[in-house]
Amino acid sequence: MSDILGDMRRTHHCYILGAEDTGKEVTLMGWVQRRRDHGGVIFIDLRDREGITQVVFNPERNPEVHAKAHGLRGEFVIGVRGTVELRPEGMSNPNLKTGGIEVMVSELKILNKAETPPFMIEDRVDVSENLRLKYRHLDLRRPNIQKNIILRHKASAAVREFLNREGFLDLETPFLTRSTPEGARDYLVPSRVNPGNFYALPQSPQLFKQLFMISGFDKYYQIARCFRDEDLRADRQPEFTQIDMEMSFVGEEDIMGISEKMMQYLFKSVLDTDIAPPFQRLTYDEAIDRYGLDKPDIRFGLELKDLSDIVENSDFKVFSSVVKKGGIVKAINAKGCIDFSRKELDDLTDFVAIYRARGMAWIKVKEDGWQSPIAKFFSDGEKQAMAERLNMEAGDLILFGADTPKVVNESLGNLRNHLGKRLGLIDESAFAFTWVTHFPMFDYDETEKRYQALHHPFTSPLEEDFERLESEPLAVRSRAYDLVLNGFELGGGSIRVHRTDLQRKIFKSLGMEAEEYEEKFGFLLSALDSGAPPHGGIAFGLDRLVMLLCRESSIRDVIPFPKTQKAACLLTNAPSEVSKAQLIELALKLRKIKTED
Ligand code: AMO
Ligand code: AMP
Repeated sequence: MSDILGDMRRTHHCYILGAEDTGKEVTLMGWVQRRRDHGGVIFIDLRDREGITQVVFNPERNPEVHAKAHGLRGEFVIGVRGTVELRPEGMSNPNLKTGGIEVMVSELKILNKAETPPFMIEDRVDVSENLRLKYRHLDLRRPNIQKNIILRHKASAAVREFLNREGFLDLETPFLTRSTPEGARDYLVPSRVNPGNFYALPQSPQLFKQLFMISGFDKYYQIARCFRDEDLRADRQPEFTQIDMEMSFVGEEDIMGISEKMMQYLFKSVLDTDIAPPFQRLTYDEAIDRYGLDKPDIRFGLELKDLSDIVENSDFKVFSSVVKKGGIVKAINAKGCIDFSRKELDDLTDFVAIYRARGMAWIKVKEDGWQSPIAKFFSDGEKQAMAERLNMEAGDLILFGADTPKVVNESLGNLRNHLGKRLGLIDESAFAFTWVTHFPMFDYDETEKRYQALHHPFTSPLEEDFERLESEPLAVRSRAYDLVLNGFELGGGSIRVHRTDLQRKIFKSLGMEAEEYEEKFGFLLSALDSGAPPHGGIAFGLDRLVMLLCRESSIRDVIPFPKTQKAACLLTNAPSEVSKAQLIELALKLRKIKTED
């Protein structure tokens, strides 16, 4: 069998040689990034995952090899043997580590040819993301994406180093399993040997990690793939990766403490950045009150202020009637934004309408009083009180929301983020972590007319709220916590229920009959009855974490083979139809359904 490499073996990668290597005989292998013909001499930028080295073919010094180099094109795969030389005066490139040298080639092997790629292999390519995803193997050659993927490796390596050192065990859990309720739809897998039955791919390893605690493994972690069939966004993928952890005999502070140490270790090892625990802690109520959202971006101010008590009896009926009906009125002081035009205010009104706000009253604070369509409705006392609470000064623009708490908080919370970006208030170099604690146990699903667990149903309520489980479920606070970084939910976890009576009560609050929860979760209830230690844990979204470490705005840029918004893999064309024979084997029959396109 002939081997195209022959005796040629690489001695260095393409971003290592420097002036100190002058005179060395070296062998490099990689891809042709660029070819330049300079009156006879041919220069090639040779690329591998580390970077670039310039290699030179000189017709006078080596005519045969030079002739062969004429055939080289972009993305050809080559091996070269040659000597490291200093570049001539004025020809060095100080921006590259290898910019002071070049390799004078004495032997060239063309290891493979390549078609002309559909886009340039360089950082700034002006092509659609769909084209990049169709040719992801080429897209992944771009230095920027290579850097992201290598950083992802460093991040998971750092997590493993840290957790191994802290005594955590890296344990696996199954993919073919039963549904774990994390609030999304399941991906189902039909079983051939049990016709008509389905596995669910795990939305997270939640129940298995709890079973590990019950089995006595104490400190568990896994860099685990999770599958959720949900509407996709820039920070959501149908399959994504969690840094999943669970510990026994612990409370909230233990989990938060170890998580903070892990983040500190990770940021130091990956970015050489110091972050300083303990991170800020906000209760859910405080977060909503001040920022409107449960994942506040705390890199800037513009906090929301509640004015309900001030405007409750005012003559502005929009505000007073909202408060009388149990709603709230809140406002943001956009400092110094008095010059916003009518059009800009209309645009902001359209922006809050996305979150179902029905209007956005405003005030421009001038030296000589307020300019506002609603100023006339307020008494001097009310004006004074609002001015104080909002710290109004001449030049400010005040923006109001009046509606149910949910609509006001969501609309103003998102408006706050929008203004923060637009006004340049955000320090893009900062990493601002905050914990959000004491989440409500349940919320009410208006369409399905039932309570649902805000985190998941295995989360423990606060002990002092146990008795409200049946009487007042919405008032029950939980022992759940989220870690938020720069306005993104990086991770979430909780102290779990470890007693069956409490677990049964929670299932009941969620509207499940005994028959249903025994059928779905009988294995968990029986395990909890077998001597379950108090336990708790957390899971971090690795993709989101790496996205923030790389300062990217989409997790697709840090996942090697991501899916599109429609959950498709454009490279392999998954999902795809299957053969009739496969369907028959699985006892499945397809029904024709109309699709929109
Ligand atoms: P949770 O559902 O909050 O908790 O998920 C934990 C973290 O996973 C990330 N994440 C996602 N990342 C990308 N795409 C998605 N579709 C996606 N969904 C979630 C987020 C989130 O904070 N079992 C519990 C954890 C526990 O209680 O220990 C769980 O899965 O960063
Ligand atoms: P109107 O009396 O309906 O003309 O509204 C006067 C001002 O109040 C306008 O600037 C509206 O955008 C604003 N507005 C109306 N409804 C609301 C609401 N629910 N929340 C905040 N502002 C509102």
